[in-house]
Amino acid sequence: MQNPYEPQMTVIEKTITENQAGDIRTFQFRFREQAARDAFQFVCGQFAELSLWGVGECPIGIASSPMDQDFVQFTVKRMGVVTTALHRLREGNAVGIRGPYGNGYPMDRLAGSNIVIVAGGFAFTTLRSLTNYVLHPDNRARFGKVTIIYGARSPGELIYKYDLERWATRDDLDLHVTVDAGDDSWTGLVGYVPSVLKDVAPSADNALALVCGPPIMIRFSIPVLLELGFTPECIINSLEMRMKCGMGKCGRCNIGGKYVCKDGPVFTYAELQALPAEY
Ligand SMILES: Cc1cc2nc3c(=O)[nH]c(=O)nc-3n(C[C@H](O)[C@H](O)[C@H](O)COP(=O)(O)OP(=O)(O)OC[C@H]3O[C@@H](n4cnc5c(N)ncnc54)[C@H](O)[C@@H]3O)c2cc1C
Ligand code: FES
Repeated sequence: MQNPYEPQMTVIEKTITENQAGDIRTFQFRFREQAARDAFQFVCGQFAELSLWGVGECPIGIASSPMDQDFVQFTVKRMGVVTTALHRLREGNAVGIRGPYGNGYPMDRLAGSNIVIVAGGFAFTTLRSLTNYVLHPDNRARFGKVTIIYGARSPGELIYKYDLERWATRDDLDLHVTVDAGDDSWTGLVGYVPSVLKDVAPSADNALALVCGPPIMIRFSIPVLLELGFTPECIINSLEMRMKCGMGKCGRCNIGGKYVCKDGPVFTYAELQALPAEY
């Protein structure tokens, strides 16, 4: 059995600069030991601690699909000490990974349901993992209709453009990409995510809504979903509290009696309503 505190060695195989500002990059890692890769089996919505020796660790959601067994991807915004050091690394450099941690999205409930994804900014990462998982030919038949409403501040801030282009050609996916403000080249939707959600008005019938994004987007999207008939049990959020150990030991991430790292980071809106408003 692996020591849960011990990061497993990986190598950066590829990096993709996702946005115009250049401060959001996707890192593709390959585990050095096949046994470590085999042990890293995850559910969409889980996260891992990325470890840089002599620098520190930080929790990052897993952005690739569990169907991609050869590699694992994380999309990271440059914020502070660890993420800046990570952005300086190049292909071939080593990074430690420990995890996966957290509960992930409720895949049992999602199977057989219609799925409505409401996402803003770079918080799209774990929902991108989920989308690619659901769209995989081995899985697609197990899920109902998929609607995605994804927005960013500007066209240059949209991430996973290569996935968005691919998804736009599919007829089993209802994709709405919007920006707060367009530019000369932008011919798509312009508007905030909650108002596009209101216009698209996805049916709440046998549906679960997964919401990830900046707090203001979540705050204005939830009333729209409630108005459309989604119950608090059918609205699912992922939280990004500050964390340390990631595994329910240090008590840095608790909200009331819940550890976000262990009991979450995925909670239904009904569960969040029962917690102190510290998130
Ligand atoms: C479950 C989970 C999943 C996450 N997934 C992603 C992801 O997919 N991609 C990604 O880029 N980031 C993600 N984050 C956020 C990421 O963990 C932080 O940005 C990172 O820890 C910052 O580390 P740092 O050492 O670079 O910054 P620090 O030097 O520690 O801090 C830099 C600045 O960022 C602020 N900060 C640090 N952590 C957080 C946080 N969790 N919430 C709000 N402010 C914070 C600090 O207050 C400070 O102002 C996730 C966080 C959690 C808990
Ligand atoms: S981060 Fe240590 S208990 Fe959650």
